Amino acid sequence: MKNYLSPSILAADFWNLGEQVRAVERGGASYLHVDVMDGVFVPSISFGIPILEALKRKTTLLLDVHLMIVQPERYIETFASLGADMINFHLEATEDPLGVIEKIRSLGKKVGITIKPATPVSALEPFLNLVDMVLIMTVEPGFGGQSLMPDCVDKVRELRKRVNELGLELDIEVDGGVKESNLEMILEAGANVIVAGSAVFGSNPEERTRLFVEKMHVE
Ligand code: DX5
Ligand code: ZN
Repeated sequence: MKNYLSPSILAADFWNLGEQVRAVERGGASYLHVDVMDGVFVPSISFGIPILEALKRKTTLLLDVHLMIVQPERYIETFASLGADMINFHLEATEDPLGVIEKIRSLGKKVGITIKPATPVSALEPFLNLVDMVLIMTVEPGFGGQSLMPDCVDKVRELRKRVNELGLELDIEVDGGVKESNLEMILEAGANVIVAGSAVFGSNPEERTRLFVEKMHVE
C-alpha cells in the first residue's frame, strides 16, 4: 500500500494559514487533514465551511475532512460540494452509518469511517467492504497535542489483519499523537495514512513534513 502524509491544520498558525499550507505542500505532503468540530460530539469548536472553501480555492492538496460532528448526514452534501476529497465521519456520531456511506459515495467522494479509542475494531465489520478508509483515533478526539494511546495501535494491527483476511485494499489512517519517534511503530502496525498536527506545525512545517515524508517513503 502507498503511504500518505496528512498534516492537520488544527495545529497551524491561523494568522499565516496560507503560508503554512504552502510549507507542507513544498515539504511533500499528500493530503491536508481538516478537523471539523461542533462542540457537541467533542467539547471543542474548531472551524468549518468558510475555511474549507478557502483551502479548496488555493491548494492542490487533497482535502481529508475529519467530521467530529453529531449527525454527519446533515452536512455531507455541503462538505462534498465545497471541495472535500475524502470525508471521514464517526461511527459513534450517527444512527445510520450505511446511509452516510451511501451519501458520500453517491457524491463521488472517498468514504472514511472513524472510531474513537473506546470503540472496538469489531464494530467496523459490517462496513469494511463499503468504505475506502478507516480512521483509527489514537487519542480522544477534540484536541491536538495529546499523547498517543498505545492500545489504539494494537487496534490498527488487528484491523490490518482483518482487512488482509478479507482481501480488501483499505487505507488505514491514524490520527492523534503521531511523532517521528512513534511513526515507525504505527506504520509497522499497518497504517498507511498518517495525520500529524503538532509534530508538523509545531516548528518549521516544511522541514518537518520533509522528515515525515522521507521516513514514510512517500512516493
Ligand atoms: C484531534 C484531531 C487531530 C489533531 C491531531 O481530535 O482529530 O487531527 O489535530 O493533532 P496531534 O497530531 O497534535 O495529536
Ligand atoms: Zn483529525
